[in-house]
Amino acid sequence: MSATSRHLLDIDDLGGREGIETVMRLTDSFVEVSQRQIPKVPALRGKTIAWLFYEDSTRTRLSFETAAKRLSADTMNFSVSSSSVKKGESLRDTAKTIEAMGIDAIVVRHSSAGAPHRIAQWVDASVVNAGDGWHQHPTQALLDCYTIREHLGGLEGRRIAIVGDIKHSRVARSDVTAFTAMGAEVVLVAPPTLLPPNLDGWPVTVSHDLDAVVPSVDVMYLLRMQRERMTEALVPSLREYTATYGLTNQRVELLKDDALVMHPGPMNRGVEISAEVADLPRSVILDQVRNGVSVRMAVLYLLLGSGAELPSPAGTLTNASETSDQEK
Ligand code: CP
Repeated sequence: MSATSRHLLDIDDLGGREGIETVMRLTDSFVEVSQRQIPKVPALRGKTIAWLFYEDSTRTRLSFETAAKRLSADTMNFSVSSSSVKKGESLRDTAKTIEAMGIDAIVVRHSSAGAPHRIAQWVDASVVNAGDGWHQHPTQALLDCYTIREHLGGLEGRRIAIVGDIKHSRVARSDVTAFTAMGAEVVLVAPPTLLPPNLDGWPVTVSHDLDAVVPSVDVMYLLRMQRERMTEALVPSLREYTATYGLTNQRVELLKDDALVMHPGPMNRGVEISAEVADLPRSVILDQVRNGVSVRMAVLYLLLGSGAELPSPAGTLTNASETSDQEK
């Protein structure tokens, strides 16, 4: 997604580091808006955004809704469980039906990889991928980059371990692309059964030994065991998984003083992360959630707000095109 592109389907749509940095800088402005007494700007007044979530969500859906409201957009709620999807209506007919009511964007989550891409071929509205199967979760990667930048000043030269069920993780796929584009080094840590069978082209190293990796990283990024996507037992037992790959109270002591602990949520406390570690000051998991709102404001603004008034960090209003020129 460049400033002129209509969709955000894949983190690669941002065109690498420059595009991600544009979102980061725009997010700074929306963080400032979110801290105001009345955290609302008229940037997307008159625009309508629909949510099309075929999979459950707490963070992504609520933060997109909050982002849209803070930008003064109208929203169209759609609940798959109480819709005509239950009567067999196809994805295409559902998307076309929603579009016929007059919308500017659809935010889609679906269990099938590529579903948002298909919708983007069928509708004229902008499409934002809020997670598709094992494939991509681009706004998660953006909020993760923003949170690391907030706490560590940037990603350049940082070493980030992504630990756990990488095989089934759209977050891992998006994060690897975004983190490495921003200059970080990524090491994947998992048992062989929880890694993709083919890592050709992934700009990462791989380890099966978490204890050897913990002392060297700046960020420990933990992933949930995605049992809803597993068709077979991929670890002997959760107890054994935790002993080998969980961030336990003992293991967290081996981290560098300023190393961060991150998790996209929802967490399985006591499995990939101990209940106590999840609440340590170095665990920035709720900062990820908080930043998700401002990052999604930036994404919706870039897709729909061209020519609208953009809030500057100082609180004054500047034109979006002027800001783009300044950033170049
Ligand atoms: N991280 C994330 O996508 O969380 P939700 O499933 O709650 O949206």
